[in-house]
Amino acid sequence: MNNLKARMLVRMFNKKASSPKSKNEEIIKTLFLEPGQYVADVGSGGGYFSLRFADLVGEDGKVYAIDTNQSFLDFVKKNAKDNGMNNIVTVLAKEEKFPVDSKKFDTIFVRNVYHHLPNRVEYFKNLRDSLKTGGRVVIIEYNGSGSLNFHRMFGHYIAKEIIEAEMSSAGYQLTEEYYFLSEQSFLIFSAF
Ligand SMILES: C[S@@+](CC[C@H](N)C(=O)[O-])C[C@H]1O[C@@H](n2cnc3c(N)ncnc32)[C@H](O)[C@@H]1O
Repeated sequence: MNNLKARMLVRMFNKKASSPKSKNEEIIKTLFLEPGQYVADVGSGGGYFSLRFADLVGEDGKVYAIDTNQSFLDFVKKNAKDNGMNNIVTVLAKEEKFPVDSKKFDTIFVRNVYHHLPNRVEYFKNLRDSLKTGGRVVIIEYNGSGSLNFHRMFGHYIAKEIIEAEMSSAGYQLTEEYYFLSEQSFLIFSAF
């Protein structure tokens, strides 16, 4: 992907993520992030949520912006620097494996990325090692409802029932669910 295309895409991701239509403020409030926490933003794209989370976890916390696209990560890094934030770490991921081991994370956030992940049961089984005891995985994913749109036309969605079944096979239980997003599921899982 050339740089111009990458720049256009990250701007589009951030424009959508920051639009009131995405209910970003409600999503962020619902997570109750606290200073000192560690958060992974899997498929961080333009980093809109990474930067918002970094602001909340503060100097003692950290946000790992994780993506398979180095140009996107460079954009996030520059944005963090321009905003004087030094608690964001960017990590280049391989498609099939969450790239950070050790029991680090309080929250692993996966917004509009679940359908991109290959071998999801295996992916989330491995990812358990990266969660702190009591940590959680937050999945926001288009559910295929609503009018005919891009996500439905191109199959960029996964039904909630499939996510629940796959997460259960990977060793997680659904602990919270929110209904304020009209076309997306908002599910929080913990490992059992
Ligand atoms: C639709 S964008 C979502 C961006 C961001 N999460 C948001 O809510 O604005 C999907 C992102 O997932 C990334 N991605 C795709 N497959 C991935 C994988 N296997 N691991 C990590 N990131 C991945 C893409 O490069 C892209 O940045």
